[in-house]
Amino acid sequence: MSRVIVAGSINVDLVATADRFPRAGETVPGRTFAQYPGGKGANQAIAAARAGATTAMVAAVGDDDHGRQMRTYLSASGVDCTGVRTHPTLPTGIALITVSAGENSIVVVPGANGSLAASDLDDLAFAPGDVLVTQLEIPITTVAAALQRAQRHGAITVLNAAPMLAEVQSLLAHAHVLIVNETELSALTQTQIDQDAASHLVAQAADALRQRGLPTIIATLGARGAIVVGESTWFELPGRDVAVVDATGAGDCFVGTFAAALTTGGTIKAAAQFANVAASICVQRPGAGPSMPTREEIEAAFRG
Ligand code: RIB
Repeated sequence: MSRVIVAGSINVDLVATADRFPRAGETVPGRTFAQYPGGKGANQAIAAARAGATTAMVAAVGDDDHGRQMRTYLSASGVDCTGVRTHPTLPTGIALITVSAGENSIVVVPGANGSLAASDLDDLAFAPGDVLVTQLEIPITTVAAALQRAQRHGAITVLNAAPMLAEVQSLLAHAHVLIVNETELSALTQTQIDQDAASHLVAQAADALRQRGLPTIIATLGARGAIVVGESTWFELPGRDVAVVDATGAGDCFVGTFAAALTTGGTIKAAAQFANVAASICVQRPGAGPSMPTREEIEAAFRG
């Protein structure tokens, strides 16, 4: 059976909610505080596993309570952690997150994530039909090695260019599918794309990017849904009208469930539709890792 293999980050998210975001130099009162499993890689792996895919992760945590908690949580979510290494001195990655009116701002301290090396991928066996998922919270040289190794072995490669790094440009030709939000798409294309941009302009920017050697680009646009651009075609997936509690991890949910759907041999369109519905469930719950929906929940939302 085809697998989703995620090479990526693991963080513990420390989340405060507040009525508004503080400006530089300002202190604002918070409303709640909670600690959640997070990290873009871990969130994507959890999303893929809950959506029904056989999922494994290659990552690094610290030799600390956070690292042990994340291993336990990932395993309980169905993610194979054989490839998760424990760094002897660096701490597990931490994300400091403020959530206000459903939006978030995030500072990530990478810790052990920054130590994940290309050599950590040496034991990775890919089979044709497997889907590699990677993002940019681990060293870019490791991302490059993961994409190239997966490509050599006939796996499908999904690159989520988040958080945005200019160096990702050199990796685009190694991805079959690039998933970006409007900010990342703007930065990669040097255009001004925001959440209100006309759909044909988003598609135009994505298509310009696609011509750098990628078959498919997906632009995720928050509450508005997503736009999928392939060779000589593009289509829009409208957002679902839901009450947003916390958008943290919604992009990761899209990426992980999209990859899971690809392992079943589905089309890009079917996989993106599935992921779009999954992300609309994710935003209705607080936290990142714990808000990833199960396959049953996604199917029920599709029907309803
Ligand atoms: O995409 C959301 C994630 O970004 C959070 O879980 C946080 O850990 C940061 O990596």
